[in-house]
Amino acid sequence: MTLQALVLVGGKGTRLQPLTSEIPKPILTLVDRPFMRYMIEWLGSHGVDEVVLACGFLPDQLQGVLGDGGEDGPRLRYLVEPEPLGTAGAIKFAAPYLADRFFALNGDVLTDLDLTALWEFHEERQARVSLGLYPVDDPSNFGLVDLNQDGSVRDFHEKPDPGHVGSGLVSAGAYVIDREALDLVPEDRKVSIEHEVFPLLVGDGLYGLRLDGYWKDIGTPERYLEATWDIIENRVETAADVDGRGVYVSPEAQVSSRATIGPRTVIADGCKVGDGARISDSVLLEGCRVGEDAVITDSILAPGVSVASGVAVGELVIGKNGHVDA
Ligand code: GTP
Repeated sequence: MTLQALVLVGGKGTRLQPLTSEIPKPILTLVDRPFMRYMIEWLGSHGVDEVVLACGFLPDQLQGVLGDGGEDGPRLRYLVEPEPLGTAGAIKFAAPYLADRFFALNGDVLTDLDLTALWEFHEERQARVSLGLYPVDDPSNFGLVDLNQDGSVRDFHEKPDPGHVGSGLVSAGAYVIDREALDLVPEDRKVSIEHEVFPLLVGDGLYGLRLDGYWKDIGTPERYLEATWDIIENRVETAADVDGRGVYVSPEAQVSSRATIGPRTVIADGCKVGDGARISDSVLLEGCRVGEDAVITDSILAPGVSVASGVAVGELVIGKNGHVDA
């Protein structure tokens, strides 16, 4: 049997702009590889043979970078929606290519949650849809999910009650879905799976399982940086080539021995950093140029950004090929 995972990658990534204005979020470099590679590696480690990417925004770039998946990992297949159909619409659009049961995932989380456990839980319960749930300390930005004793979903709360204290379970954006549940998705309009489909399944085959491990949505600059530090400081296990000291400098970068790099810094392929420059708590994506004595702190520089000599850059997100002059 082919085990499939459908990954939603059709969003515009507006919260990560200007980084994502010209580069789709799934292929933005995270430390030493396109972000989506981490997801594909994670899916492969749970036995997934085929990853179906539900694309919308800049699909050719995505395919150009990720290709067909290569020799070792899952096979990649690309589907392009004529227009954004929402999370449920996108899954339904892909249905002709999907098996009777499959994983579905939001395409912007860095995680090592145990998908195999979720699959087994789904089969034991004979569920129609099973949600991977993750405990968060501050659930104020998330919808909460309440479970019955048997793991069936009792209720969704959009916002925790005022004064709510303690952790709560939220959807981790990782599901096992039986294809027949897609019959509930109306055609010909944008439909959200979280808001419009899951509520219809409460009491009718919708289950949830708490999964512990690492989980982070990389969809904002703050969280993209947090995920970066978590990788380079070894708080999440990935295949990234890091030594745990909190600095990653690509072997393809040219950094002056008289520059000061770190703490918490990534310098990607093709960057050039001049004498006396100081870079900390920042990510420089491919091909950035940093002049002598420039100072960069708490910032993300998209590919091809140049920073002139002596300039100070702090708490900025700079889009592709941007220039910061004196
Ligand atoms: P923001 O614009 O910053 O909110 O980011 P986003 O566009 O990625 O939206 P959001 O984080 O809400 O989406 C969650 C996941 O679903 C992401 O992986 C998106 O790529 C994906 N997604 C959202 N809407 C669609 C859609 O209409 N079609 C497809 N194929 N994927 C979608």
